[in-house]
Amino acid sequence: MLRSRISGIGMYVPEEVVRNEDLASLMDTSDEWIVQRTGIRERRFAPAGVCTSEIAVPAAQAALADAGISSADVDLVLFATLSPDFHFPGTGCTFQARMGMPGVPVMDIRNQCTGFLYALATADAFVRIGTYRTVLVVGAEIHSHAMDFSTTGRDVAVLFGDGAGAAVVTPTLDTGGPRVRSVHLHADGRHADALRLRVWDISRKPYLQHEGQVGVVPPEERWPEMNGREVFRHAVEGMTAALHEMLEANALTAADIDLFVPHQANMRISELVARRVGIPPDKVVHSIVDYGNTTAASIPMGLCLAREQGRLRPGMRVALAAFGSGFTWGSALVVW
Ligand code: ACO
Repeated sequence: MLRSRISGIGMYVPEEVVRNEDLASLMDTSDEWIVQRTGIRERRFAPAGVCTSEIAVPAAQAALADAGISSADVDLVLFATLSPDFHFPGTGCTFQARMGMPGVPVMDIRNQCTGFLYALATADAFVRIGTYRTVLVVGAEIHSHAMDFSTTGRDVAVLFGDGAGAAVVTPTLDTGGPRVRSVHLHADGRHADALRLRVWDISRKPYLQHEGQVGVVPPEERWPEMNGREVFRHAVEGMTAALHEMLEANALTAADIDLFVPHQANMRISELVARRVGIPPDKVVHSIVDYGNTTAASIPMGLCLAREQGRLRPGMRVALAAFGSGFTWGSALVVW
């Protein structure tokens, strides 16, 4: 039976390192508060003029090289982001043009922090049924151009960083070797207002209108809004439940998991989820310390960093889980 596997991964982050102390010079916050509440010490910010599809290119090229193939071998691109280059066309299109892959189908996945898992599930399904053989899955974000760095926006601004990650998904007939064993996805749009950016509101006519003035966006709609406590609680519950669902579907227990690469929302969320599921702390990857929350990029970036540190090795059972705006959440099991 045809299965899919991750045959290459890559990542890229912009050069500029922004430490907690740097943010404390812009807003009322401190290194101590950020480290205690989130685990984050620094993150990367892209310079003005750079867009999401641009930082995705080096990540994708690294993943293709890792898989030992070129862009000419790719027959589908899935692009996950919540910070698209434009409202339309999709960033998959602008990315594909930068990669020089005309004619290759592209699809944007707009599922925020769970975007990589939605893309992986889609790639897995297409590969299994034989529609596409080589799927390039990309998760990339530029958050720093759309955050409020005043004290009003501090709850959100300290969390996010810019970055890109990519994975190549290809077929395998080896049911005992590296493969995607399962992906479970969920969403609950009743919580859409707990974490959102409303700058584009198509219900208004014309859409950019405030107090009768066209082109004026009120501050509360210009920046991301977040109910941090609600997101935190649902993230812990959602990721925990999705991991239990994954273990049950694969007839495994937590002891069978060799490595856990969660979406990096907050180190406390990852630690709590691991504890509830029964995954020991030394099996959990925390790339958030150096890169913050990079949303759709965080899982492929976590895989890259774990491998770089020698923690991700062939044959390992790797658990993935994510939770994000929407709400959206899910889990996956990958044999490396
Ligand atoms: N620096 C200093 N103080 C701050 C900051 C900051 N950056 N941000 C908030 N505070 C203050 C608050 O104003 C509040 O002050 P008050 O008590 O005087 O009102 C105090 O700190 C405590 O605020 P809480 O919101 O209770 O702090 P909490 O411990 O919940 O931590 C946090 C806040 C870090 C945002 C947490 O709720 C969280 O991580 N939530 C999940 C957020 C998340 O994961 N979002 C992304 C997931 S989805 C996705 O990735 C798109």
